[in-house]
Order: sequence, then C-alpha cells, then structure tokens
Amino acid sequence: MISADLPQGMAANTISLLLGHPDPATLLPPELRNAIQQVLSSPQSSRALQYGPEQGTQSLINVLVEKINREQGLSLQPGNLMVVAGSTHAVDMLARLYARPGGVVLVEAPTYVDAIHIFRDHQLELRSIPMDEDGLITSELEEQLARLQVSGTFPSILYTIPNFHNPTGITLSEARRLEMIRLAHRYGSLIVEDDVYRDLSFEGTVPASFYALANGKQVVSIGSFSKTLAPGLRLGWLLGSEDVVQRCINCGTTQMGGGANPFVAHIVAEYCRNGHWEKHLLHLRSLYKKRRDVALSALDQYMPSDVEWTHPAGGFFVWLRLPKSIFAQDVKRLALQQGVALAAGEGFFVNPSEGEHRLRLAYSCAAPNDIATGIRILAQVIESARRVEQ
Ligand SMILES: Cc1ncc(COP(=O)(O)O)c(C=O)c1O
Repeated sequence: MISADLPQGMAANTISLLLGHPDPATLLPPELRNAIQQVLSSPQSSRALQYGPEQGTQSLINVLVEKINREQGLSLQPGNLMVVAGSTHAVDMLARLYARPGGVVLVEAPTYVDAIHIFRDHQLELRSIPMDEDGLITSELEEQLARLQVSGTFPSILYTIPNFHNPTGITLSEARRLEMIRLAHRYGSLIVEDDVYRDLSFEGTVPASFYALANGKQVVSIGSFSKTLAPGLRLGWLLGSEDVVQRCINCGTTQMGGGANPFVAHIVAEYCRNGHWEKHLLHLRSLYKKRRDVALSALDQYMPSDVEWTHPAGGFFVWLRLPKSIFAQDVKRLALQQGVALAAGEGFFVNPSEGEHRLRLAYSCAAPNDIATGIRILAQVIESARRVEQ
C-alpha cells in the first residue's frame, strides 16, 4: 500500500489522480470524534483495550449483521460474520487457510495490485481471466478451469472485485455472477468476493452479492470501513458459512492476537449504532458521484477520439484504454512532468504487458477543478506521447 505522503518525484502542487484513497476531508466526521470520546470516557473503556473475542467485538458484529440482512435480504446469524483488520487482512488469512503453496488462484485481468502481491507472498500461482464491460468473461473462466483440470489442478480460490472494480470501475453483471457460482461449485473453488466499494454506488441498485446468490455456499464476502469511513481504522469484516468463520477464528494469528482491532471496533460500533455511518454514506455517494461526473465530462471534452474509458456506476476509478501507438509508461512519465500523477496499467495485471496501453484514474481524492484540469493536461500528454506506428 502506498502511503498518503506524496510518492517520490511528485511535486507538492501535483494533481493526484493516482491513489484510490478516500477524500481526507471525509475521514473524521464529528460523530466519529464523539464516538471516540464516548468509548474513552465509558466505564467499559478498559474492556475495549483488552484482547477481544476472536470473532470480533460483538457490538460491531451485531450492527453489521443487522445492516447487511436489511439491505441484502439475507438472514445472516452472528456466526456468519467475523471482524477483520481491513479487507487486506481477510484476503491474507483466506490465502493462508484455503490455498497451499504452489496451488493456483484465479483473479481478474486486471485486478487489485495488492491482492496479486498477497497471493504471491503465499507462493501461489496466479492465473488471470480477461474482463469486458460486464466484468470477468465467464466463457474464458470455464476454458481456463477445464484446461487446469486436464493437468489435475483445481484452483482453490477465485478472487473477484464484483462492484466498482479496482482498477476498472466495472460492475459484474448478475448473470455472470451466477455462472461463476456454477463453475466454482463444479470445480471446488472458494469464491472470495472483495466488496469494499459496494456502499459507494451512485445510481440504481447494486447487483446481488455472490454471497446472497449462492446462499453463502463456497463464498466469502469481504467488506471494509476503509473506503466509507477511514482506512486508518484498519477495520472490515468477512461473511461466510459458519464453518468458514470458525476456521478463520481458529487460525493462528486470530488465536494469538484476539479479535481484530477491538478498541477501534468499539468506537465504530458506537458510531454506527446511532445511524451516523448510513448518513455519512449518503454524503460520500453524492461527493464521489460529482467527481465521477466531472471526470467523465472532462474525458468527453478533451480526450483524443481513439482513447476509450469505462463509465463507473460507483467507487473511485475510471480505466482508460490507449491506442497501440501510445504506451502507459510514456504517458505516466510525461504527465508527472506536467504535474499530473496517475497509475499506468502494468501493475494491475498478472502478466504486466497486458497493461501497456491502460491507465487508471482515481477521482476520489482530487477536487473537481483539479480533476478537470488534470484530465485536460492528460489529454495533451496522451496526444504528445503518440509513437510513430511502424
Ligand atoms: C479491491 C480492494 N480491496 C481491498 C483494498 C484495501 O482494503 P482495506 O483497507 O480494507 O485493507 C482496496 C484498496 O484500495 C481495494 O481497492
């Protein structure tokens, strides 16, 4: 994870469309400050600072189970949810518990950079499945699974970011979700649904989660407070069958360390219990929707006609496809010289060359004027980076 400090070589007045961080101005709503004070001054404050129950702080589990059941029409029991120290913690724990070194994990192409990093840390072999505008292409998944089966390989995990995907902003269609569930059940893979952007939808409803569509069978769904409250809290949750949750509770780091972040979990439970999080979510959706709208209209206005981009219905990112004569690394370097930072595509792919002509723009952290100016400058840079075709 890149720190919030300016990356090396980035001047102080650089317009940053680089990082998928929430807007810093949203990180400490007054009600969260009050919840911190309240937990500190409560007679139970020392309990909040003690090792916590392995499954997580009960008051937070209750708040989350109630919200998710209400919104997704589920009937989760408290035994279906575990508090984790952010999505990252959950992905790492699942990789450790559900895959064996040398085993295969399937991911989307492209996918979240740090998920690639985690799976590689666990010495897992990654195979990636291409995406189109509806998300992961299930016919490609089926072919990949059949090919692996011939060599006696059954991927233990299928990792997906179904809503407002990082880096593309794409939302996976419900039909594809159902097809992925069918394939995962047939080939015995655990679907790990990294759903950290679910609450940041700008229009319409979000498709049913994998967890809901599969009735929780062979699915773990991960949520986080990082994008919708503050990443420094290091707090999230996972949903799974009681068996999966129990296995995570029994894992070594949970047993040794107790529940994830009990002190912070008490604070966030206090904050959520009073309805403040859901009000805050309304504010965030309208804030980021405005930024998305500014980004899309600037792209329409300024980009050369042979550049294409996605139209995210939520989340933080737009994904650009450059023509073959323009390389993302050239654009990234030249844009930085002109005071605009963004991410080149290579890092998001298991096979980096697939990202040579892709760029990710994050609109979450820049003011609307800066987003428009940054995209205007970027369009000029893209034009100037065109290489003569051979
Ligand atoms: C898809 C995805 N998963 C996980 C994370 C990190 O989440 P957390 O801060 O909860 O570990 C990010 C952050 O960019 C993300 O985009």
